[in-house]
Amino acid sequence: MKEPGRPLWRKALPDFPVRRYTVIGGTNSWSEWLAAWPALLHRGDEATVRAFEAEAARRCGCRHAIAFAAGRMALYAILEALGLRPGDEVILPGYTCTVVPNALVYRGMQPVYADISPTTFNVDPRCVEALVGPRTRAIYMQHTFGVSCDTAGLRAIAQKHGLATIEDAAHSLGATHRGAPHGSLGDAAFVSTDRTKVINTHLGGFATTNDDAVAARLARIRDRAASLSGLDSRRVAFSFLAEFVLRHPNALWLGRPALGALRRMGLLFHWTADEGMDRLPDGYPYPSRLEPAQARIGLSQFAALEENLRHRRSLARWLEDRIGWYGDTLPGAFDEQAWLRYSFLVRDREAFVERFGARIELGIWFPTVIFGRETGTEAVGYRQGMCPVAEKVAQHIVNLPTHRRIRPALLESLWERHGDWLRGELLRN
Ligand SMILES: Cc1ncc(COP(=O)(O)O)c(C=O)c1O
Repeated sequence: MKEPGRPLWRKALPDFPVRRYTVIGGTNSWSEWLAAWPALLHRGDEATVRAFEAEAARRCGCRHAIAFAAGRMALYAILEALGLRPGDEVILPGYTCTVVPNALVYRGMQPVYADISPTTFNVDPRCVEALVGPRTRAIYMQHTFGVSCDTAGLRAIAQKHGLATIEDAAHSLGATHRGAPHGSLGDAAFVSTDRTKVINTHLGGFATTNDDAVAARLARIRDRAASLSGLDSRRVAFSFLAEFVLRHPNALWLGRPALGALRRMGLLFHWTADEGMDRLPDGYPYPSRLEPAQARIGLSQFAALEENLRHRRSLARWLEDRIGWYGDTLPGAFDEQAWLRYSFLVRDREAFVERFGARIELGIWFPTVIFGRETGTEAVGYRQGMCPVAEKVAQHIVNLPTHRRIRPALLESLWERHGDWLRGELLRN
């Protein structure tokens, strides 16, 4: 991998005060940032959302895509569109983001947790099969961190027991599994396009399906969902524009307080966190629609998706050549994955953060089994001890972002300093 040299003016300056990379705002390029400005000035119309949906469907190899204001809202809509009802059980990986079981709990459904592989961090189909019972209605196929789960194994179980499959491609837009795009592997699927994902519409997501009847039900749910107010729509576009600049690695020392000030002034838009909730949020409509402004931003990012994925895959390959975490454990080829984050286990996570966190704001993903809930997991049906492998993984997981602001030279310099230490710290199974 070749990294262009630093420009002369940069060489002349020290990294004042320190160059630090965040996990947010790195999905994009300056050209996508420029393309987002009109979204701030003109709200746009639903035709832009339809164009975004058409492109999303094409990218996922599906006949239909239906956009929502968040991936979790797309999931909430899918549960209804598949005809799941209160009391039904869905088997989830015991290693997920809490917004996933939250969506089930909001519908009165019961999440059931299956343990995971300690290498790929995806659900282990053998654990899933052992949990199928009389109230099981669906199996949840989550591609954690952008790496394919064993969809063939999970679909075989679903077929044997007459269950639906819901594919969670929140982390894996653009990945394929033995040639078939993520998003096309279950009865219905969804992708997240929030600011930490493969593409970034600040917040957002879409559902996909090849089933015409399910698609019609999803479209009905979207059509009766509320839109954001005109002001909030502009705040979303403004948040996207501001974060890209203020989270620039060279400007973070100034950017962070500036973002804090913008937040206090009410200029940035985020959902009130529903992570800790066990009933439908009441501060905003759930689900809500994706805004035309976001669809416009999303379309410009779809146009650069190949380049985006090439970068992520080449960083993941670089790391794999040195760390060798995944070896031959992946279902499908290395370069088929989206590699949203390259993840592995270390003995001492605090020591890892001390070394690598000085240059990258790691924001490590899934350091708890139900990420987003430190405690109170019983509210979404998880009790300590249910998934021992996942619990150990959560204690030792670390992951590195692969977005386009992370340059090979950064990894090289980190590796030069800490590579030998890291090799000795890996916690292999
Ligand atoms: C595995 C997984 N599924 C679903 C989601 C929901 O996506 P969103 O944040 O767009 O609602 C997330 C959120 O990060 C996630 O990590």
